[in-house]
Amino acid sequence: MTTVAEIFSTMAYGPAPEGDAEARAWLAAHGAAFGHFVNGRFTAAGAASFETREPATGRVLARIAQGSAADVAVAVAAAGAALPAWQALSGHERARHLYALARMVQRHSRLFAVVEALDNGKSIRETRDLDVPLVARHFTHHAGWAQLLEAEFPGHEAVGVVGQVIPWNFPLLMLAWKVAPALAAGCTVVLKPAEYTSLTALLFAELAHAAGLPAGVLNIVTGDGRTGAALVEHPGVAKVAFTGSTEVGRVIRTAIAGSGKALTLELGGKSPFLVFEDADLDGAVEGVVDAIWFNQGQVCCAGSRLLVQESVHDAFVAKLRARMETLRVGGPLDKAVDMGAIVDPVQRDRIAGLVAQGEAQGATRWQPSWAVPAQGCWYPPTLFTNVETSNVIAREEIFGPVLVTMPFRTPAESVALANNTPYGLAASVWSENINLALDIAPKLKAGVVWINATNLFDAAAGFGGYRESGYGREGGREGFVEYLVPSWEKRIGRAPRVVRPAARAARSAAARSAAAPAARIAPDAGHALPGPAVDRTAKLFVGGKQARPDAGYSRVILDPQGRAIGEVGEGNRKDLRNAVEAAQAAAPGWAATSGHARAQVLYYLAENLSARADEFAGRIRAQTGAAAEDAANEVDLAVRRLFTYAAWADKHDGAIHSVPIRGVALAFHEPVGVVAAVAPADCPLLGFVSFVAPLVAAGNAVVAVPSERHPLSATDFYQVLETSDVPAGVVNIVTGARDPLAKVLAEHDDVEAIWYHGSHEGATAVERASAGNLKRTWARWWPVDWMHAEQGEGRAYLRQAVQVKNVWIPWGE
Ligand code: NAI
Repeated sequence: MTTVAEIFSTMAYGPAPEGDAEARAWLAAHGAAFGHFVNGRFTAAGAASFETREPATGRVLARIAQGSAADVAVAVAAAGAALPAWQALSGHERARHLYALARMVQRHSRLFAVVEALDNGKSIRETRDLDVPLVARHFTHHAGWAQLLEAEFPGHEAVGVVGQVIPWNFPLLMLAWKVAPALAAGCTVVLKPAEYTSLTALLFAELAHAAGLPAGVLNIVTGDGRTGAALVEHPGVAKVAFTGSTEVGRVIRTAIAGSGKALTLELGGKSPFLVFEDADLDGAVEGVVDAIWFNQGQVCCAGSRLLVQESVHDAFVAKLRARMETLRVGGPLDKAVDMGAIVDPVQRDRIAGLVAQGEAQGATRWQPSWAVPAQGCWYPPTLFTNVETSNVIAREEIFGPVLVTMPFRTPAESVALANNTPYGLAASVWSENINLALDIAPKLKAGVVWINATNLFDAAAGFGGYRESGYGREGGREGFVEYLVPSWEKRIGRAPRVVRPAARAARSAAARSAAAPAARIAPDAGHALPGPAVDRTAKLFVGGKQARPDAGYSRVILDPQGRAIGEVGEGNRKDLRNAVEAAQAAAPGWAATSGHARAQVLYYLAENLSARADEFAGRIRAQTGAAAEDAANEVDLAVRRLFTYAAWADKHDGAIHSVPIRGVALAFHEPVGVVAAVAPADCPLLGFVSFVAPLVAAGNAVVAVPSERHPLSATDFYQVLETSDVPAGVVNIVTGARDPLAKVLAEHDDVEAIWYHGSHEGATAVERASAGNLKRTWARWWPVDWMHAEQGEGRAYLRQAVQVKNVWIPWGE
């Protein structure tokens, strides 16, 4: 007699299709041809258009408009016109709108789920159970931020019109991640969906306006990368938010350098999935299924590198192969499939190409015995073993259902392997030993770490990357703040940048002075170098030691009357390399130092600076000609600022996000690492301290370039550093020509972020050069009143000094 167990093991699934009549009726109502959605209505579907197809069948679903620069301009104008009224609404009024959008998504949830499955090819199970509920969740969560905006973010306002460009892997969800915080903050939006998957964005905009969203607040312009480029470059856009490939992220960073536009980038990944020998192996196998075969692996945070402890490697791979045999690939409207279709033949060919290269480079490919459907765009789940770390499939984002496996021996080796990538988006750690898991999580260079879980998302927890996976967060407080700007910056006209004639004149003066070589020899007139006193030569300060400049040149520092008052070293590329090396060596130790110990060092700096207050005030007067009272005030403020950051060092906590799991998401504030601080020209001491102190307080190692004109306060300051227990290499000082030094630092791959205050040209060069390793930049050229606490210190600085890592810890047996 057949046993129940046998029936279970032989039973095949019958088809369980979801109906698509409503979705097709919606397409038919639009004549299966769409214009853009601008100012509350669809534009006419013109001749410039392209087809969007069903990946599962190859059939055409609709024609989509190819947006021109002129279309983008009309949409940006509509968003600009809608901005004042939208921003003028109270937080509560905007909260009502966001709440209405969440309700609208819930009312039409099945329509959204089916249109998404048809257009993208992903399974209805995912669109219905994950994408759409999370979309509603994002609007509800951000209704809350709108409600709390005035109370929680005093002195801040909406950044303005936002240009958003999103990819095709989570079309509606990415829209929600971008649109919900923007609207909550009071921004208006022009969004460009990916060319393969425009339909749910158009449906959303249509239904949003039916739900009462005012015209012009949300505009959708469809098209390919050219449309995206026109949008991000449009001068009416004050902030750009992009999700997509790292390559296009770089293009955008470069294209908008110097525009004053805020930028957040959520880019690619090659995320590790670490399985330790004490893990629940069967649970971890299911984790792998979710990590790499969810959405066919077309997920930026897909766990695409499986790292398994050697002792369980072979057993784990055997279990995984057995599980892969049972996966089902098929039509996305079938409710019983595990994997749907690949979005487009171009993408499938890219996957196949990388798989072929991986094999050619020596890795062993394994695929289940069953075949994918003959018609449509599919790729089977694929597992690679025997993969060298240099193999292309171990390094490049494949964006398909392809997993590479590598063994490791020790926890230290697992961390080294996991971090052996320029990316840093996400990671999963599997171990039943909570000590081990929580020891590994902070060591992983990734913005999100899941412990004994994977691909968990929620609106309350920030999502975003380290390193070449981009910067900025989406979700949580840390994501919402990206759509706000301090009101004082808005008042002085931060962005978009319009070059006025006066600014242009100042610019060419700055360019002239930058081009002229620095004075090497003091002018005769009024020579004020120390005469009979012992010569005191200001040096560079690298790795805790005073260092002579590599090139052997010095520059003369003049007072306002043109008299020489000192000389400093002319730092060059080599000096910066040494300083970065010293900072790199110091960074891990300083990051691991407790907030309390960092506070002690900052208090001690303040104490030692205070003891020499008169001398520092005299130096400021000599350099800038400031009145005695003002110079003394600057020193006093520098002491206070050091106190401020000493105070913050053990208080700039992260958060425990309230996410809907049995467990928590811990939002750690981790230091960025090695940060370059190109300090302001004015306020020689306070400007320098305003950059260095928050970075040090947050646990970073700093390479500082002091004021080019008035560097002597900073070179005096290294004596304070030397006597205040600052570990060697935590603060390094290289004097010289500001903008050339800034550019070298911005290009340096081991510098993880750069702060710059100076000229527009310098800031532009810094932003442009940062595209190489996609380092975070905070480049400002507008005046900042360093004496004013609102502008010169506080949370904005600390926020730039850290990156938020969300560690998800589910619990329970
Ligand atoms: P992509 O980065 O080219 O496209 C993403 C979005 O950017 C689309 O809306 C596109 O139209 C737009 N875009 C393209 N060029 C632009 C430009 N110069 N300026 C502004 N917007 C521009 O990604 P694509 O071509 O769809 O996929 C290629 C590869 O990129 C994939 O195989 C995958 O490896 C990676 N990718 C990664 C994503 C992620 O979330 N990490 C998302 C999409 C793609």
